[in-house]
Formats: sequence, structure tokens, C-alpha cells
Amino acid sequence: MSAERTLSILKPNAVAKNVIGSIYARFENAGFTIVGAKMLHLTREQAAGFYAEHDGKPFFNGLLDFMTSGPVVVQVLEGENAVQRYRDLMGATNPANALAGTLRADYADSLTENAVHGSDSAASAAREIAYFFSEGEVHSRIR
Ligand code: PPS
Repeated sequence: MSAERTLSILKPNAVAKNVIGSIYARFENAGFTIVGAKMLHLTREQAAGFYAEHDGKPFFNGLLDFMTSGPVVVQVLEGENAVQRYRDLMGATNPANALAGTLRADYADSLTENAVHGSDSAASAAREIAYFFSEGEVHSRIR
């Protein structure tokens, strides 16, 4: 497997806990390189577009309420097998099922307020990175 990129979001509850630096250290200690980063307060339209595949699901409106409740930090992580390795670092979507030592075990508050997002495939990563970053904002080593 060669180096790839994935899209990561520190969700509003993680930002509110004042642990951006701690989580960035976890990224770097796990061997990821942060090749793009920005802090945003998402509009409802931005959040709805990002989560469009979940439109109509029972949790959709609550997810948008949460994701627009405060600033988020969005970053592009690069490394070997980045999509799957970052999903492993995050832990299960529901923190009740997240393994000890994962980001969600350490920082999530609930299924909705689960602290971090990560792309679920290489195709999703490409779409999600392009959603938040222009080409010049990603300083990739693998271009
Ligand atoms: S599903 O049910 O298969 O569509 O869910 P999944 O693809 O794993 O993730 C859905 C995203 O919505 C967030 N979210 C919830 N999912 C399931 N149930 C509830 N109640 C819920 N509330 C919010 C979940 O955290 C996923 O967000 P991301 O940002 O992708 O982790």
C-alpha cells in the first residue's frame, strides 16, 4: 500500500475541550503528516453538503445542529494506508464500542458528539478533501 490522504475533522465538542494540540500529537505519533489544516465554523449548508449521503436519516438534523454548534478543525492527513489507519486511530463511531486508546474512547461524549470524523474510503477522502481544500491548500508529498 502506498501513501494516501484522508480527511479528518475535529468536531465542535473536541475543539471545545481545548485538545486540538493533544489530538494533533496523536496524529503525528501515529505516523501521519498533517498536509493541510483550517479552523471553520460550518454553516448549515456546508454541513448538509458534507453529510449529503445521510440526508433523510433520523439523525441528520441533530448531526447538523451539532456540527454547526461551534468551530471545527479540518485537516488532511497523509501516510501509508491513511484511510484505514486513521479509522483505527479514531475507534468505533459509537464511543460505547470504541477500543481503549482510540480518539473516540478518549474524547467522544456520545454517538453524535463523537469528537472526530474520518473518511471511510479513498473515494470519500478525495471528495471530502476537495470539499474543504483547494489544490494549493494541500501541501502533499505524494502529488
Ligand atoms: S450509518 O448509520 O451507517 O449511515 O452511519 P455511519 O456511516 O457510520 O456514520 C454516520 C455519521 O453520522 C453521525 N451520527 C450518527 N450516526 C448514527 N446514528 C446516530 N444517531 C448519529 N448521530 C450522528 C456519525 O457520527 C457519522 O458521522 P462521521 O462524521 O462520519 O463520523
